[in-house]
Amino acid sequence: MRLAGKVALITGAGSGMGRAAAALFAREGAKVAVIDVNEGAAKETAAAIAGAGGDAFAMRADVSNSEDARAMSDETVRRFGGLDINYNNAGIEGEGGFMAQLSEDAFDRVIAINLRGVWLGMKYAIPHLIKRGGGSIINTASVAGIVAIKGAAAYCAAKAGVISLTRVAALEYARYNIRANCICPGVIDTPMVKRVSEEGGVTAQDNNRLSLFGRIGTPDEIARTALFLASDDATFATGAPFIIDGGWVAR
Ligand SMILES: NC(=O)c1ccc[n+]([C@@H]2O[C@H](COP(=O)([O-])OP(=O)(O)OC[C@H]3O[C@@H](n4cnc5c(N)ncnc54)[C@H](O)[C@@H]3O)[C@@H](O)[C@H]2O)c1
Repeated sequence: MRLAGKVALITGAGSGMGRAAAALFAREGAKVAVIDVNEGAAKETAAAIAGAGGDAFAMRADVSNSEDARAMSDETVRRFGGLDINYNNAGIEGEGGFMAQLSEDAFDRVIAINLRGVWLGMKYAIPHLIKRGGGSIINTASVAGIVAIKGAAAYCAAKAGVISLTRVAALEYARYNIRANCICPGVIDTPMVKRVSEEGGVTAQDNNRLSLFGRIGTPDEIARTALFLASDDATFATGAPFIIDGGWVAR
């Protein structure tokens, strides 16, 4: 087991990639704090882990709220005795729309959750990681932080910001044996992609064409990258965006 004895906090773990990572990390021996703004979804993930013989608890937290962000880290440490892996994965797609039509509220909400939420997650986790003698931070960015996507200004800017925040975290905390990396997924088969595709009239073929394999990725393919970054297999990896996109940005 690659995460035996480790404690992991995963946000957005009630669905999609966060849920897949929570299940995989638990199978690899980690104790998992399953965090989501949707409490019922978080409970489902934690119950599935417990049903498979793993150790997890569910907690409702809104990552854009500083009290919640502090509480999720503190509660994880209270329950499990420490924190080793801080996976800031929660995010929203936000409203689509070209810049001139985008409302200020819609812009601010995406930045609050997808960018500020990642910073808050790290802010309150880092002191616990330091106490533990080091750890692994994994942030969810996106290919959208590297290439431009029409109608997604706030989302693209937030994800580019996550890549940047990750680099700064790596620089600032390497001396505490903390590694910080981010994952840039391409199109992955999650409820978010289903919603975005339906709303934008994007077909399955459109999505499939974005990858060189002619298919979209699975949440498990991202969870396995996160497992690598969380584990001691990645001891020399820090400050890096890991692009897992089936070759989308290679063209
Ligand atoms: N699916 C993709 O193709 C894709 C590609 C690149 C990046 N991403 C990113 O991956 C991450 C996970 O997305 P997913 O596709 O699994 O989406 P998803 O919608 O299936 O899951 C996201 C989860 O985050 C939770 N969440 C939303 N706002 C929250 C908040 N304020 N506080 C706490 N939890 C909150 C939701 O309740 C949900 O359970 C997101 O950051 C997303 O932007 C997704």
